Amino acid sequence: MVKLDDHPLVQHKLTKLRDKNTQPKEFRELLSEISSLMLYEVTRDLPLKEVEVETPLGKARGKVLNNKDLAIVPILRAGLVMAEGMLQILPSAKVGHIGLYRDPNTLQPVQYYTKLPEDINEREVVVVDPMLATGGSAIAAISILKSKQVKNIKFVCIIAAPEGIKAFKEIHPDVEIYTAAVDEYLNDHGYIVPGLGDAGDRLFGTK
Ligand code: PRP
Ligand code: URA
Repeated sequence: MVKLDDHPLVQHKLTKLRDKNTQPKEFRELLSEISSLMLYEVTRDLPLKEVEVETPLGKARGKVLNNKDLAIVPILRAGLVMAEGMLQILPSAKVGHIGLYRDPNTLQPVQYYTKLPEDINEREVVVVDPMLATGGSAIAAISILKSKQVKNIKFVCIIAAPEGIKAFKEIHPDVEIYTAAVDEYLNDHGYIVPGLGDAGDRLFGTK
């Protein structure tokens, strides 16, 4: 199942993110903010443990997260800014990195870097990348995690193409996709239409 985040704040910021006139500084801020907001829905089912605290007036029972449960894994490069946004809300989550880029001719993902927390297989893992286009990069990243015996994985993107969702679900039907939009189609160069363009280039000003 695909979980669409249609919260007004997310949709408002997504529209500004798509705008071709939005420059890298604001683009990074918006992507980070959207990611923080989306984390609310992504973490809805995280386990809580009961604790007791002292208020100025007495004892109160409450619930807290066990932050040790979670790891955030951005797909480089564009996932980095999403991870930063999520760490604003969950600063003690561990972070792993998976470096992948799409070969511009074949559109196949090329893996160039992986660094994961040692206890990654004991954690719930949130993989982040703003674009799910052909799905190749997300599929490869999740296959890497599964090869390390990670069992509990969620994938969070900002814009997904129907082609990417279909390919992803065929290979990883057990992994929930969270997205802020499902767009129309992929063009001949594998770009999402209308999308937002090349996420990495817009974030880091490389084109
Ligand atoms: C973009 C994006 C995804 C990938 C999506 O990265 O951030 O990782 O494309 O496309 P796919 O679903 O067809 O695999 P890119 O390959 O441009 O690498 P970069 O972030 O290093 O620029
Ligand atoms: N990668 C991007 O950055 N944008 C797209 O539309 C597709 C892949």
